Amino acid sequence: MPVDGPGAAVRSVPGAVDAEGLAGIAERIAVRAAELVARRRRDGVSVAATKSNPVDIVTAVDRESEDLIRELILAERPSDGFFGEESGGSGTGTSGLTWVVDPIDGTVNYLYGIPDYAVSIAVVRGEPDPRRWEALAAVVVNAATGEVFRAVRGGGATRDGVPLRVNSGVPVDRALIGTGFGYDPRRRVWQAGLVRELLAEVRDIRRLGSAALDLCYLAQGRIDGFFERGLQPWDHAAGALVAAEAGARVEGLNGAPASSDFLLAAEEGLFSALHERLVAAGADDTSF
Ligand code: IPD
Repeated sequence: MPVDGPGAAVRSVPGAVDAEGLAGIAERIAVRAAELVARRRRDGVSVAATKSNPVDIVTAVDRESEDLIRELILAERPSDGFFGEESGGSGTGTSGLTWVVDPIDGTVNYLYGIPDYAVSIAVVRGEPDPRRWEALAAVVVNAATGEVFRAVRGGGATRDGVPLRVNSGVPVDRALIGTGFGYDPRRRVWQAGLVRELLAEVRDIRRLGSAALDLCYLAQGRIDGFFERGLQPWDHAAGALVAAEAGARVEGLNGAPASSDFLLAAEEGLFSALHERLVAAGADDTSF
C-alpha cells in the first residue's frame, strides 16, 4: 500500500512509495538470509575478526549474510541505496530510499548458540541517518526460531501475520525492561550505573543481546520497555518501526529522535515514567 508524507496513514497517492510492497521484498530477502544464517549455525561458527575492540566480533556468516542481502536487494531495487553493518553505505541511490541492514543482530548470541539472533532489514526515506530518516517498512526475522516481525509505516506491525500491540498501563514497579550494553568498556560501566539506579524501581531488567529483537519483543509484550545508548542505525532501524507500529513511543531523550545518543521505547505512560527516572539517573550525560 502506498505511503506519502511523515506519519501519514496508508493511502493511495500517485508516485507514492509502495511501502507494503517494500515490506514484502524485505521479508522474502530476510527469510532467505535467516535460513542461511541458521544453516551455517548448524555447521558451527567461529570469530572471523574483531572490530572496535576484542569483544566486538564479526563472523564469516555476518559477511556472507550481508553479501546475500545486498545482492538480492540490488537485483530487485537497483535505484535504492544500501547501508549495512559490515559493508557500510552506498548513499541514498537515485530513488531516495535506503535499505538499512543488520545481517546478524545478536552476533555474540549467534557465536554461543543462544537462540536470539536476527536478520534485520528496514527501508527508510531521506538521509540514511536515524535523526532524519523516515522508516517506511521493516522486517526482523529471528533466525533461530523463524519468527517474522514485520511493520509498515501507518499500517501496523505483525508477528507471523498476527497483529502486535505493546503492553499498556504498566506501572514502573511492574515493568520488565530490556536494555543493552555497547562494546566500549568505559561506556559499559556508565550503562551499568543506569541499570543500578533502575533495578530497585522496576520488576526486573533483561539483557537479551539483540536490540532488533528487544524492540520486536517489546512490540509483542514480552517486555514492557527498552532503552540503550550507543545503538548503531542498523541495530534499531527495523525494530524501532515494529515497536512504534505496535503502539510504542520510540524516541531519544528530551524529545530528540532515537539515535546512537539514546533510544527509549515503551507505551506512552511508561515511556514518561522511565524517561523521568533515566534522566534523573544521568542518562542525558553526553560524555559517555
Ligand atoms: C548488538 C546487539 C546488542 C546491543 C549492542 C549491539 P550486534 O549488535 O544489538 O543487543 O546491546 O549495542 O551492538 O553487534 O550483535 O550486531
